[in-house]
Amino acid sequence: MAHLIERPRRNRRTDAIRRMVRETAITPSDFVAPLFVMDGTDTRIPISSMPGCYRLTIDLLVAECKELAALGIPGVALFPALPDSKKDKRGTESVNPDGLFARSIQAVKESVPDLMIFTDVALDPYSSDGHDGIVNDRGEIVNDETLEVLAHMAVAQARAGADFVAPSDMMDGRVGAIRQALDQEGFINVGIMSYAVKYASAFYGPFRDALDSAPKFGDKKTYQMDPANAREALREVRLDIAEGADMVMVKPALAYLDVIRLVRGAVDVPVTAYQVSGEYAMVKAADERGWIDGQRCMLEILTAIKRAGADVIFTYFSKEAAQLLN
Ligand code: PBG
Repeated sequence: MAHLIERPRRNRRTDAIRRMVRETAITPSDFVAPLFVMDGTDTRIPISSMPGCYRLTIDLLVAECKELAALGIPGVALFPALPDSKKDKRGTESVNPDGLFARSIQAVKESVPDLMIFTDVALDPYSSDGHDGIVNDRGEIVNDETLEVLAHMAVAQARAGADFVAPSDMMDGRVGAIRQALDQEGFINVGIMSYAVKYASAFYGPFRDALDSAPKFGDKKTYQMDPANAREALREVRLDIAEGADMVMVKPALAYLDVIRLVRGAVDVPVTAYQVSGEYAMVKAADERGWIDGQRCMLEILTAIKRAGADVIFTYFSKEAAQLLN
């Protein structure tokens, strides 16, 4: 028999030992569930590239939120799916106090007040150009003009009952503009969860199908970050925190675990990570083919995202994972 002083396998010998020495535990409290809402009643439309995800009418959205809260999930991220007839170049519908989005926020806040609502601040679901900012005649996404629209949108969402507004547009200076506008209107307790480090990623494909929000021309590379860059992430989080962000996000998650780790070490606000639509779709598709065990892969990936340093995970697996963990 070999005389080994160290035998790491001793600490893996039984389930009890493994549980005792486990370094990372995921719980339903870590999750925020993204949900898509549309006009109408008692209808849900499956999103084909995201099995298990739906566009929900407000009544079904509220029912879903109740279930999520009962599972111990502390938050939801809401996204409106609008018909083309409601879209224009300046995303006017985004500030409509009687519009679909305001009504869904109000309905969820009224029926499930303890559930934290994160609302997306960006033009794309409302924009006839499908971009996150205003597009000028030369096809450029104009930064400073967009900030005014984003600030109004954030105030409209706060007024409807959002707990955190979540700018995902990647315009420069938007966190500062939004903080100032919220404070001016008295919404000092509405937080800002900034999509500070958002990459120009191919993993957003299924989401754009879900909202029918793909850019009508070009891509988002002049505002979203180059996937090759990690150092630049530090610059983005530094600016957003200086402008008043209460939490910062890295997005996507799985292909950017190094960036999550880097950001976690550099900032003292909570770090969120968004496991995006394409990441979800890959697991679901391979599971449907019987090529992987989807549930085990789901738990393994969520654990990895937390191990990398995420305090909060935005994930379409929220409900399924919470059901397994409970
Ligand atoms: C839009 C927005 C996107 C996502 C969240 N907010 C898409 C984009 O930037 O094109 C992607 C989420 C996902 O893929 O799950 N501002």
